[in-house]
Amino acid sequence: MAPIARVPAALPPSSLSVFREDIFKGKVLFCTGGGSGICREMTEAILRHGANATIVGRNVERLTNAAKGLSEATGQTVIYAQADVREPKLLQDAVAKTIEKFGRIDFVICGAAGNFLAPIEGLSENAFKSVISIDVLGTYNTVKATLPYVRESRGSYIHVSATLHYQGSPLQAHVSAAKAGIDALSNVIAVEEGPRGVRSNVIAPGAIAGTEGMDRLAPPGATDMSSKISLQRMGEKADIANAAVFLFSEAANYITGQAIAVDGGEIHSRAVY
Ligand code: HXC
Repeated sequence: MAPIARVPAALPPSSLSVFREDIFKGKVLFCTGGGSGICREMTEAILRHGANATIVGRNVERLTNAAKGLSEATGQTVIYAQADVREPKLLQDAVAKTIEKFGRIDFVICGAAGNFLAPIEGLSENAFKSVISIDVLGTYNTVKATLPYVRESRGSYIHVSATLHYQGSPLQAHVSAAKAGIDALSNVIAVEEGPRGVRSNVIAPGAIAGTEGMDRLAPPGATDMSSKISLQRMGEKADIANAAVFLFSEAANYITGQAIAVDGGEIHSRAVY
């Protein structure tokens, strides 16, 4: 067979060139992990369509800079709340701060996560528990704290998961178990809350360039994996942001209980082609 011409997919467009600028006007986003990485990028995209936001994280300096930067970049109001998602009381306080400032919550991104590479034999009970607690318990705590308001607004959840647990990924026992738990939680929320008009979906990012997760999993200098991805390039944070804009938009009104892999088709192209 003659070698195929490999054409990388186009880079992601700004969601503003696809969706109207005011689709989220008057809406409020509550985003855990919003101080950096993919979650910050998703927050920025949603702000650009008219929403205001609360970002939640552990590092105050990072949150302060992110809130200021996001607000300056978009002209929208962004506040932050310092909270470890493992602490329900801190999340309840973050929600109270959001309601005091904005009066409502329409969209929630459960994005706070922890990761490091370790074989199962090198994972202490506390190491395993730390990631499960940040990812799964943190998602549960975030949903519990926000649900009364999301019900009121007939709003929508996006949970940030992964694709690595779709098969056995070495050195990722803790994260795989956690992400599978998040996927399952989202499905239950979709079923329990659907009758009240609340939607719940998962975005499963593939290999996304320029993220802390990627730095941790594939340090600089690691082999370029583009040729192993069906669409022939690494993901961009904007690819995930565009998926979030779509899932929160009315265009996705009939989509709930889904896990959407935003991975350039990588889960289906594991065999080298
Ligand atoms: C083995 C490790 C370890 C490592 C930490 N631990 N790093 N064990 N190998 N590399 C162990 C510690 O020794 C300790 O166990 C336990 O984990 C808890 O560590 P702490 O540092 O005390 O916990 P904490 O401060 O709560 O930090 C949580 C963390 C940390 C998950 C360990 O890495 C973190 O805060 N991460 C947040 C940022 C992050 O990870 N971002 C990337 C997300 S990307 P002992 O037994 O010694 O007490 C992502 C994408 C996934 O999630 C999908 C990508 C495709």
